[in-house]
Amino acid sequence: MPDAYALIRPLLFRLSAERAHRLALRATEAGLDRLLLDRSSPPILAQSLWGLEFPNPIGLAAGFDKNARVADRVRRWGFGFVEVGTVTPRPQPGNPMPRLFLLAEDGAIVNRIGFANDGLDAIVRRLARRRDRGVLGVNLGKNRDTADDAADYEAGIRATAGFADYTVVNVSSPNTPGLRDLQRRARLGALLRRLIAVRDVATPRTPLLLKVAPDLSQEECRDIAEVACAAGIDGLVVANTTAARPAGLKGRAASEAGGLSGRPLFAKSTALLAEMHRLTEGRLPLIGVGGIADAADAYAKIRAGASLVQIYTALVFSGPALIRRIERELALLLRADGFASIVEAVGAGNRSGEPPPARRATAAA
Ligand SMILES: Cc1cc2nc3c(=O)[nH]c(=O)nc-3n(C[C@H](O)[C@H](O)[C@H](O)COP(=O)(O)O)c2cc1C
Repeated sequence: MPDAYALIRPLLFRLSAERAHRLALRATEAGLDRLLLDRSSPPILAQSLWGLEFPNPIGLAAGFDKNARVADRVRRWGFGFVEVGTVTPRPQPGNPMPRLFLLAEDGAIVNRIGFANDGLDAIVRRLARRRDRGVLGVNLGKNRDTADDAADYEAGIRATAGFADYTVVNVSSPNTPGLRDLQRRARLGALLRRLIAVRDVATPRTPLLLKVAPDLSQEECRDIAEVACAAGIDGLVVANTTAARPAGLKGRAASEAGGLSGRPLFAKSTALLAEMHRLTEGRLPLIGVGGIADAADAYAKIRAGASLVQIYTALVFSGPALIRRIERELALLLRADGFASIVEAVGAGNRSGEPPPARRATAAA
């Protein structure tokens, strides 16, 4: 099948990044992605986690479908699950444009969108109309001008009860002033205890996850792992975009303020993932996100401790066909290393005595 995205990509990339994204969402809403076949996933990739069935571990990361407009449609691209949001209680416009910059030479994006979204009411209305039964997560944030941070997350948990298969407490966007301070030990402990108490009443079976920033010191990592486990959080999403700028970026927009995602984030976010897996002794399911561009990257995250992975930036550069490709090649990589199920490979890279991973999917063909 010809890759239609490869054909239209030069045209899309001539538009401003945000217009191109809006256009891609509209085309998806209109069903122009029909060429992608609705195939089933290789059984080796299936797993059950938190009582939810994931046909494969590859998810759409938060921020792509902020307003839950295309969640069902993008599942046809091959995603095993989809996370919508970040949604805040009240609608908000986000930061002034331009606020989204492509660094094509680096396979990266800088964004400072700042939680632009339609607000909880509108998004829950859309979720109520869903027909697809696939796993859907909702990423929750707080309004920029809120007086009570925790109350905003509580409102998100209550409003999405019955519509979200899991929810994510997002305290890690670099684009809402002060947000990342919620990751500090004392504040995080108090916040998570409050939110888990609300969850236990409003929707006791819905897993509550925490999404962390990649820019954490050793001590902050330890604190988060301890506090999250003690509070009874169900999983971690590792990680959001980075406020740092690794040396060697070539894109002209590298110095724009905002969070950097894509290839330059891979090493840092994967190291943090392995660290979190070690600190939580593999007891907490982890979603690995940051810089995944192919099956080998996804496999590296899984071996570092991720039960599930998510992708955003590579999708912009490679288009929807990327997801089925990763799915196919990931199954080959697992088989090449003798795994019968993805579950066996989670954290394999952190266990002593495990053989090194298969290098390329083609080696197994
Ligand atoms: C344009 C853009 C908007 C994003 N918006 C959100 C968001 O609203 N909430 C969130 O938790 N993460 C958001 N993210 C972060 C992604 O979910 C993901 O954590 C990060 O981009 C790393 O993955 P990637 O390298 O595959 O893009 C956004 C990322 C991008 C590129």
